[in-house]
Amino acid sequence: MAPPPRRRPRVATLAVVAALVAALPGALQKCVFDEVQARARVVRAAPVPPPAASHPPQTDGRPRAASPQPIRIRTWTPAESDGLSGAEGERLQAAVDEAVRTVSSLLSVNRGPGPLLLSRDVNKYCKFLWKNSSTANYNRCGRANKNYRAETCLDVTIPDDHLAGCDVYPHADSPRRTRLRPDGAGLPRSDFLLYLHVRATDKCRAEPGVLAYAAHCRTDPSGRPLAAVVVICRDKLTGATHGRRATAQTVIHELFHALGFSKELFHTWRDCSSTFQGGARCSPRGRVTHSDGWGQMRVYTPSVISALQSHLASTHPELGGPLENLDVPPGRVSSHWESRVLQGSIMAPVLGDPTTVRIDPVTLAALQDTGWYAVDLSRAQSLVWGEGEGTTFGSLSACNKSSAFFCTGSGFGCHYLHLHKGECQTDPHLEGCRLYKPLKNGSECWKEENGEEEPWSGELFGFHSRCFFSNLTRQNRSGGSVAGRCYRHMCTGPNRYRIQVSGSDWVDCPAGGAIQIKGYRGSVHCPDRRICLYADVTPPADAVGTTPTPTTRQVPL
Ligand SMILES: *[C@@H]1O[C@H](CO)[C@@H](O)[C@H](O)[C@H]1NC(C)=O
Ligand SMILES: *[C@@H]1O[C@H](CO)[C@@H](O)[C@H](O)[C@H]1NC(C)=O
Ligand SMILES: *[C@@H]1O[C@H](CO)[C@@H](O)[C@H](O)[C@H]1NC(C)=O
Ligand SMILES: *[C@@H]1O[C@H](CO)[C@@H](O)[C@H](O)[C@H]1NC(C)=O
Ligand SMILES: [Zn+2]
Repeated sequence: MAPPPRRRPRVATLAVVAALVAALPGALQKCVFDEVQARARVVRAAPVPPPAASHPPQTDGRPRAASPQPIRIRTWTPAESDGLSGAEGERLQAAVDEAVRTVSSLLSVNRGPGPLLLSRDVNKYCKFLWKNSSTANYNRCGRANKNYRAETCLDVTIPDDHLAGCDVYPHADSPRRTRLRPDGAGLPRSDFLLYLHVRATDKCRAEPGVLAYAAHCRTDPSGRPLAAVVVICRDKLTGATHGRRATAQTVIHELFHALGFSKELFHTWRDCSSTFQGGARCSPRGRVTHSDGWGQMRVYTPSVISALQSHLASTHPELGGPLENLDVPPGRVSSHWESRVLQGSIMAPVLGDPTTVRIDPVTLAALQDTGWYAVDLSRAQSLVWGEGEGTTFGSLSACNKSSAFFCTGSGFGCHYLHLHKGECQTDPHLEGCRLYKPLKNGSECWKEENGEEEPWSGELFGFHSRCFFSNLTRQNRSGGSVAGRCYRHMCTGPNRYRIQVSGSDWVDCPAGGAIQIKGYRGSVHCPDRRICLYADVTPPADAVGTTPTPTTRQVPL
């Protein structure tokens, strides 16, 4: 008996590469996306089949009850990957597990039946395809390529076990075929395969700021990416330079690129808003990136627009998601948000200190608008940056005056989340706009060990401390200039709090006002709508108790 006819592989094998540059102090912060992209092997996708064939009836004959389930991301370490020492390997694994857990809690997919099998690249295993569209084997392989060896995903060799088989049809019109490769076992209970490649690649060595980069290499018939490589630069992981949270965020950032937030995929996003028979009917969105009136390229899709409108408190109908334009030719796009507008987003071009990086509503809206995922938008973290600031927030003309988010000059102050002291700085992505960035070290108010620097300023460091603009000084000292200072705080309601300065009682700090403290000259400014408003803006949970108090220090371990 002849085996049932196989569906033709019609996988898009376009390799899409995005790279993340770390915010390393002193290192040139440069996104290498375009360079990596230019060097990536790009295989043109096979022609899209007629719609009827892409929705075969389920075997039980009933329409598929589409009920998206959390995406199951399977990580696989390829044979080419460098081994990591025990502790290093465990740290990386913990970070990757955290990233995968996070992404699965956010994105759901319609799970396919059976194990995940990746298609082979017909242009690799095949010497020629039947090109006569009136014949039965149109676009099928007519003759095997004798030199065919293996499939790759970026620079990773895909194990045969992960690959579907392939056939050759010696006659244009006959169903007779010969099996070139058998089906692999596939990956059970998997919706996405992540090849985690730890390596000191040339790309890693060439760019000191590059921590990781990614490329997707297989998609399903709807265009949803099924497999990707994330390359983690071996040398950047060693030692304590990059903590678990920062590594996890790096992997999430790369995963979001590979899952759809990529300039190579924007035009393949689908509109699945109209539903029928319990499933979603999807149509291509076509081009989603356009220039606004000022030459800023934006993503114009419904969820992105509404997320940005609600974030900026604007009803402007053309408020698309702005894309970073540094080093991007006019009219072209990048795969990151414009950092002046969406500073702190997980999809900004540079990730800062892990406590300042947010999985924000606009990024989740973009993933929703790919059409491939059901996204739990309720799990978005507050972005804070720019909230309620209106349509023109982050524009070059508007950032020039000192505001709640931007600063001028080069003084000291507070990072806008008030967890860190900051220095008013710019970077190439900000194009002259300036904001208070965390100091290189000793910046975290919530770290007790950062204290004891300047006792005359009344600073208190610890889990409950936050940054305040202040020029408090002890009576016996001459006046200091206004800078960011760490004081303890206690919430008494939304946007209401008290603060405590070294040696003082708890004092009400009215949001938007300024207070004086007994025993000190000068005053403390009480920020409005920054403190005691966002439950998810906190120091890392594991910072509680990491600093031993004098009593615990005496306990032998
Ligand atoms: C294509 O195939 C059909 C059916 O076999 C045949 O009649 C026709 O001549 C072929 N066309 C070409 C250009 O080979
Ligand atoms: C900001 O304004 C100053 C003068 O007011 C000007 O010199 C500077 O170029 C402006 N910067 C930007 C980014 O517009
Ligand atoms: C920053 O770190 C350097 C080296 O570890 C140290 O010498 C310096 O005092 C630190 N600065 C602050 C502000 O903590
Ligand atoms: C503190 O700053 C305020 C406002 O900038 C200023 O009016 C005051 O004189 C300063 N006080 C001291 C002691 O420097
Ligand atoms: Zn990136």
